[in-house]
This record gives sequence, C-alpha cells and structure tokens, in this order.
Amino acid sequence: MATLAPTMPFEQETNPWLAQEARFDYAAKKLNLDEGVWKILRQPNRELIVHFPVNMDDGRIEVFTGYRVQHSLSRGPCKGGIRYAPDVSLDEVRALASWMTWKCAVVNIPFGGAKGGVICNPHTMSRGELERLTRRYTAELTEFIGPEKDVPAPDMGTDEQTMAWMMDTYSMHMRRTVTSVVTGKPVNIGGSRGRREATGRGLSVMCDQAIQYLGMSVQGCRVILQGFGNVGSNAAKLLFEKGYTITGVAELDGAVYNAKGLDINALLRHRAQAGTIVGFTEADAADPAELVTRECDILIPAAAENEITSRNAANIRCRILCEGANGPTTILADDILAEKGIFIIPDILANAGGVTASYFEWVQDRMGYLWPEAEVNHRLDLIMTDSFNDVIAYAQSHSVNNRIASYMLAIDRVAYTTKQRGIYA
Ligand SMILES: NC(=O)c1ccc[n+]([C@@H]2O[C@H](COP(=O)([O-])OP(=O)(O)OC[C@H]3O[C@@H](n4cnc5c(N)ncnc54)[C@H](O)[C@@H]3O)[C@@H](O)[C@H]2O)c1
Repeated sequence: MATLAPTMPFEQETNPWLAQEARFDYAAKKLNLDEGVWKILRQPNRELIVHFPVNMDDGRIEVFTGYRVQHSLSRGPCKGGIRYAPDVSLDEVRALASWMTWKCAVVNIPFGGAKGGVICNPHTMSRGELERLTRRYTAELTEFIGPEKDVPAPDMGTDEQTMAWMMDTYSMHMRRTVTSVVTGKPVNIGGSRGRREATGRGLSVMCDQAIQYLGMSVQGCRVILQGFGNVGSNAAKLLFEKGYTITGVAELDGAVYNAKGLDINALLRHRAQAGTIVGFTEADAADPAELVTRECDILIPAAAENEITSRNAANIRCRILCEGANGPTTILADDILAEKGIFIIPDILANAGGVTASYFEWVQDRMGYLWPEAEVNHRLDLIMTDSFNDVIAYAQSHSVNNRIASYMLAIDRVAYTTKQRGIYA
C-alpha cells in the first residue's frame, strides 16, 4: 500500500501526533467513515495541562509541567500510561492517548484511550523527589482519574512503585483504598500476577502467530531487539525460553551480538550486576544503531518512538517487524518497509498485551479476587491470538496492510459505540 504521506521534513515525519492523524485519516477514508464521527474521533476528548511545584532535596522549589490527555471514552473508562521523560510534549501525549483508544479496540477490551506525562528526568531525581512529584501530579489529576473515569498505568520512566504512590495518593483523597484507580501496581497491593511480563509475553505470542502464518519455524528463527527495558527484556526472555535464537540486543549505551544466539538469562544476570548490557563476554560488542539493520528474521523495536524512519528504513533487513514500542516506525518508513515486503505487526496490536493484563488487573481489583498467574497468561494468550487473527482476516478482506487493517478494525469498533451511545445534548 503506497503512500500514506508525501515527502515531508524530518520534524514533521517524526511528530507522533501528525503520524497518528495521517494513519487515522487514511483508515477512516478507507472505511468510508461518517463525517461527524470522523470529526469526533480525530481529536482527543480532553487535554489537561498542569504546572505544579515540588520541594527538591536541596531546598529549592521546582515547578514541573504534566499532561493528561483523554482521547475517547466511548467504549469505557479511559486507559493509558504515565511517562516521565525530559522530552515529553503535548503532541506526544496526544498521539499516545489516541493509540491507546485504537489499541484497546483492536484487542476488544472495554476501555477508551488516555495517556499522561511529566516533563522531568527520572534518572537524575532522588526517590524522595520522585515520590513528591508523583503525589502532587496525582493530586492535580484527582477529579479526572478514577476506576470508572480514567485508569493510569506505568510507561517509560515510571514503574510499580510510581503506581503504588499514585494509588495511595488517590486513596487518601477519597478517604478509602481504591486499588482499581491504577494498574501495574505491586502484586501485594492489588497488582495482577503476570502484568510485569505481559507486554513482552504478548509480543512473543505475536511472533509465534506470525511465523506460523508465514510458514516459518522457531528453530533457527533469529531475533534482534532494540531496548532491553521492561518490554524488551521480558520479550527476549520469553522468546529465548520458546526456542528462538536471540542474536542481538541494542541498548542506548551499547549493543551485543552473537550469531549463534545469546543466552538471555546470562545477559540478564550480567545486566543485574554491571547495570548495563555492555561488557557481556559471551557476545561481540556492536553499535546500537547499526545492530538494528543487521539481517534477522524478526526485529523487535522495544525502545521509543521514531527509531525506524526514512533515514534508516532502507537498511532494515528483517522478515517480520514486531513493534514493541509505541510508534517506532514513521509513516515514510512504512512505505519503504512495504516495498521491501516486510511483514509488520503494528504497535497497536503487537504491544497490546500490557493493556490487556491491565484490564485483568482492573477486573480483579473490582472483584476483590486475584487470579493465579496461569489464568492471567492463558487469558492473555487467547486475546492476543484472536486479535492477531482478526487483524489478518481484516487485512485480507479489505486488501490493506496489517497497520491500516488494525486502525480500520479499531476505528470501526469505536465508531460503532460512538453512534450507538449518541451525542449528549
Ligand atoms: N511497559 C509496558 O507495559 C508497555 C506497554 C505497551 C507499550 N510500551 C512501549 O514500549 C516502549 C518501551 O517501554 P518500556 O516500558 O520497556 O520502557 P523502559 O524504560 O523500561 O525500557 C526502554 C529501554 O529502551 C532503551 N532505549 C531507549 N532508546 C533506545 C535506543 N535508541 N536504542 C536502544 N535502546 C534504547 C532504554 O535505555 C531502556 O532500557 C515504549 O515505547 C512504551 O511506550 C510499554
């Protein structure tokens, strides 16, 4: 499918909101979407910007800027992570919020989409500073979030501890414990077993389904991963256990490569000790940017947005691109990859295991009954497998690629409930 976008400046190509908008418009046009619904779904429902003070360890007061964007409430409460990073922007949060709407609809769980972020550098802040920042940001959001309204979760720069502080702060304001206000919590305070590994697990199910669909075999299937954080390391571990050959892992500060396959458990032990994958003796060192262009069967970008662009897409040499990160591929890169015949499992399908397990966590908290891990994993595998098959069937019946099929399927579902609910006066 050619061309979603004409040639454009790099700044425009890498603006995630414009990328989301272009894909949305293309899929909406293909769907013949009703003009009024098109206008509703093209914009986020609500955008909140907060500037709030935090007492820093050295006695200074610092003022931080935070966002929460709620894209759609049509299919249920909004759902989406909170990102702490220095380059968080409103356009990025908007794009991530709308991707959450489409993602929840692709896997058919009863949520709309939201995303939040705070402009800060969590790696240079102390634990106390992060706790105070999280509590004040949560207090600023109190009226906007809640189990029936909008349910945050971790994303880049935030973790289970951040969610514990958010849950506690919200609960203090409500004068009662409300575990279901956030997901991705520690297991002993209402977190779900299996949530931490869920995005990586979902990616491994996608790889299983894709190689089966393409007539490939796990035996000798070479995988390269970019990013060895929550998503990348869990995907690597599960794929390694399933018998895939992980030949390369790229991180920000370096990369490792072994044509015969890396022992992922040994790499995890090395990283736990050294604090980095660099210096792992059972592999050769590699340049992280170059590693993702090495020949492999499956490439999993699991780091950040805009890693595969018009500048490097022509050099990508994989059979399957399984998107662990949100928005790792730009629209111009999409066209180049399509010409190369690369089979793409788009982000809104591939990394949906995380939000699916978050849905399970929300359900368990509201039931007050926690499931065993095997049940979480079993249900997750079923939803991810069904969703892969839905997208493939949609792509075939509408003669579009997997990315546009995912968008079309999702927009169709959200448009249906939007029309069914009608417009409040
Ligand atoms: N955590 C989840 O459950 C979840 C769910 C769905 C999607 N995602 C998306 O997956 C991506 C990763 O999320 P995460 O939770 O694993 O974050 P994380 O912060 O735990 O890990 C990201 C890792 O990528 C590395 N990295 C960043 N830029 C890189 C680059 N250019 N080259 C190589 N490595 C690089 C970082 O050093 C870090 O180790 C994000 O796009 C996030 O939005 C996460």
